[in-house]
Amino acid sequence: MRVLIVGGGGREHTLAWKLAQSPLLERLYCAPGNAGISAVAECVDIAADDIEALKKWALEQRIDLTVVGPEVPLVLGIADLFRQAGLKIFGPDSKGAMLEGSKVWSKRKMKQWGIPTAGFTIFDDFEDARNHLARFYGGQVVIKADGLAAGKGVTVASGPEEAEQALYDIMIERAFGDAGKRVVIENCLSGDEVSVLAVTDGSRLIVLPSSQDHKAIGEGDKGPNTGGMGAYSPAPIYTEELARRTEAEVFRPLLDGFKEMGVDFRGVIYAGLMVSDEQFNVLEFNVRFGDPEAQAIIPRMRSDLLPLLAAAAEGDLKDIEPRWKDDSAVCVVLASGGYPGKYEKGHIIKGLDGLDAGGEENVAVFHAGTVLKDEQLVTAGGRVLGVTAWDSDLKKAVDRVYSAVDKITFKGCYFRRDIAHRAL
Ligand code: AMP
Ligand code: GLY
Repeated sequence: MRVLIVGGGGREHTLAWKLAQSPLLERLYCAPGNAGISAVAECVDIAADDIEALKKWALEQRIDLTVVGPEVPLVLGIADLFRQAGLKIFGPDSKGAMLEGSKVWSKRKMKQWGIPTAGFTIFDDFEDARNHLARFYGGQVVIKADGLAAGKGVTVASGPEEAEQALYDIMIERAFGDAGKRVVIENCLSGDEVSVLAVTDGSRLIVLPSSQDHKAIGEGDKGPNTGGMGAYSPAPIYTEELARRTEAEVFRPLLDGFKEMGVDFRGVIYAGLMVSDEQFNVLEFNVRFGDPEAQAIIPRMRSDLLPLLAAAAEGDLKDIEPRWKDDSAVCVVLASGGYPGKYEKGHIIKGLDGLDAGGEENVAVFHAGTVLKDEQLVTAGGRVLGVTAWDSDLKKAVDRVYSAVDKITFKGCYFRRDIAHRAL
């Protein structure tokens, strides 16, 4: 099969790394890819959001399957466009992608379909939103920009002052552009988070092993949210009972609702759950693999990934039964100092020899923001690398991953030392 991956981050490197091992693969391309991806796939210089150019290229190259990594092309309608052109693609249509593309849409659908989620109110006027904050005196409140904001549009505020600042930044300063036209103000939930990803053909579901992300920049989950600073899989708090309930109370109503609306959802549904003793709620939905969750989940896959993605794209998962390792996996993200705020680029990365490309047993380095400059690997983004290790238990995987991480250096390198701490 001739396969194209769309995107160029750590998640796409993980998908490329796994697909490159498939005996069914003939050629692997990635647009735009990155320096790490170029070791396993041919990188194509087309941006992930240039969906017309991607379609033209995929037709010319007779691509058999396109796998979409990030949310932006999905929200822009890449799946609609490809399918109209007769191209097979893994990813939901633009209506389905609204589940991630609009928090307002997503919250309304959760309410309509009876999916458990935090109580909320929607505002398109700053003054009205600000007045509403008075209800939260003495407590926490969550402010969400309506549209895509690269994982940074949500503020969990410790009180109304911080919430008002977030409202101001979103609605008046337009820190996230048009995503600030509307906001969701919602009740703050507490507990443990778990990311549950399911591959679907629109009717059937294959739920992947659970994982837990670490969204905050600082150790102990302090500081502003990022795209994700590390992840591990499986997450012990995702019990069999919770898995059964999530399928019945979250995924099923969602797929039934989509069917009723005529949504063509062939791809990944990602449910971010908040779990406490008594209950669980959906914090967010995404319509793609998580980043860095994919870096912790996919290395645990024993069977071939390509038949799973191809069958979902064809709309028939009937004969697919993926197999998984019993191992635990941990991914630690190495970021540029200053991220998720301002950071420098162009610093030389050292220490990857012997770690990359399976040089060290049960370790893989997935590139997120890297580029080759004068034959040297340099930093090119906020999240630079994701290092994943897997082992027979979580403690061993944690030791293995940090021993690999400690070999890598670049100026300003920042990472969290406490990935997976909650499960140990
Ligand atoms: P979202 O993009 O909606 O998942 O929000 C990003 C992160 O903000 C989540 O992973 C949580 O850590 C946090 N968050 C979102 N909604 C809530 C909520 N209602 N209560 C507490 N934390 C939340
Ligand atoms: N790691 C969170 C996300 O992919 O949205």
